Amino acid sequence: MNKLKNIVVTENDKISKALKVINLNSLGACFVVDHNNTLKGVLTDGDIRRGLIKRYSLNDSVINFLNKKCFYLNFKCNKSTIAKSFNNKIRLIPLVDKKKKLISYVTDKSKISLAKPVLDGNEFKYLNECINTGWISSTGKFVKIFEKKFSNFTKIKHCLAVSSGTTALQLALKTLNIKYGDEVIVPNLTFASPVNAVIHSGAKPVFVDVNENTYCIDETLIEKKITKKTKAIIVVHLYGHPSNMTRILNIAKKRKIKIIEDCAEALGSYYRKKHVGRFGDVSTFSFFGNKLITTGEGGMICFKSKIHRDKAEILRDHGMSKNLKYWHEEIGFNFRLTNLQSAIGCAQMERIKWFIKNKLYLVKNYNSKLSKLDFLTLPGEYGPVNNSYWLYTIKLNKDLSKYKNRIIKELNFYGIEARQIFFPMSLMRPYKKYLNKNDKFPVSLKLFNHSISLPSAYDVKKSDISKIYEYLSKFKNTFIIQKKYL
Ligand SMILES: Cc1ncc(COP(=O)(O)O)c(C=O)c1O
Repeated sequence: MNKLKNIVVTENDKISKALKVINLNSLGACFVVDHNNTLKGVLTDGDIRRGLIKRYSLNDSVINFLNKKCFYLNFKCNKSTIAKSFNNKIRLIPLVDKKKKLISYVTDKSKISLAKPVLDGNEFKYLNECINTGWISSTGKFVKIFEKKFSNFTKIKHCLAVSSGTTALQLALKTLNIKYGDEVIVPNLTFASPVNAVIHSGAKPVFVDVNENTYCIDETLIEKKITKKTKAIIVVHLYGHPSNMTRILNIAKKRKIKIIEDCAEALGSYYRKKHVGRFGDVSTFSFFGNKLITTGEGGMICFKSKIHRDKAEILRDHGMSKNLKYWHEEIGFNFRLTNLQSAIGCAQMERIKWFIKNKLYLVKNYNSKLSKLDFLTLPGEYGPVNNSYWLYTIKLNKDLSKYKNRIIKELNFYGIEARQIFFPMSLMRPYKKYLNKNDKFPVSLKLFNHSISLPSAYDVKKSDISKIYEYLSKFKNTFIIQKKYL
């Protein structure tokens, strides 16, 4: 049973107080009681919104807003009664005594998740082996096995396991000798990690806008940003969609600059039938808990050239010589992945085909339902690509961006974990000083304003997608009819 902190207001309180309480509890609702703690009703943020639109103000009493028809249960009722009572409308139930005094409440917390790991293969068995043998640091057989399995799957020859997708990027820049005074081209719409890595290397990030369909760097804008100082382009295959590698490779070849592929979100994605990561001089992957496969924290760095791979292996391990212990050939890092994490990685790699198949099945189900909603643009495959759809990310059409936050909030209230996409880098304070005077990023901004990532976890069922579809259709009726959309 839940405690009543931050969920109760009295019938004498103003609606502004109720809003504060709702804001604190993140449940989208609160209970109204009288001076005897007798339940008077449930007040949702929807009730408040409707009340404010009608005629009331923030100084009016909660009673004016109250939906008095309120569902409640006796606090002694059994669990199955509670479970049966939850439905699309009822997700928060007050529990009362015989005199209707509020005792507690229950909420249906079974979320439809954005992403979550599946660890029911050999993960436990392999972890046990590490513990039983004592090989828990970064020496131990699983590190090499994990690298080999990864290499076999992606067909990238030289793979090194590292502690995260971020350290993989830092190591990539260091291996390519990128340093203070250099410039590196990066997309303006990305998770911040590649940009932070550039800044930590001492180089300057140069931002380029993205393509409206793929969410990836707009290759037609890259050349204008190349200067004598440009040493590399980091392409990010965002949300699983590969960047246009043919054109980017042509530019790199012509201008003699290096390519780093950030494939953190694109394991299982292909460009011209080749796995992403096989095109650049270096490529990086992440195994954070929300990725296609996970090791908890972890990453992989992959190289075309053996010379680069050997250099990175030394840098990963404090810069120490392979032949002479404690002899440092480089100023290195400790970016190693542990045997424990690699053990999980090995078990995950055994099921990688299942993970990809599962994602594609999810996408098929989403597409067949959501294609009926003509106010949405669904994610797709633009160019000679196979997208592994890390997160199923939809776009609101036309001028519907003003509803984005409300839709996300309401979906979350109903246990559907929806999320906005990454903020464009150009909007955030730490990165503003790297912007050039006339920089404008209209597409990143437009995508940010219109996009919503929907639940993409492996356990999202067909029935969950039907539920998501129902809610989204409801938004069309409630919000959109009011406006000029139709
Ligand atoms: C595009 C991108 N690059 C890099 C990273 C960083 O990976 P990690 O979290 O493993 O450091 C992430 C996210 O996790 C990402 O989404």
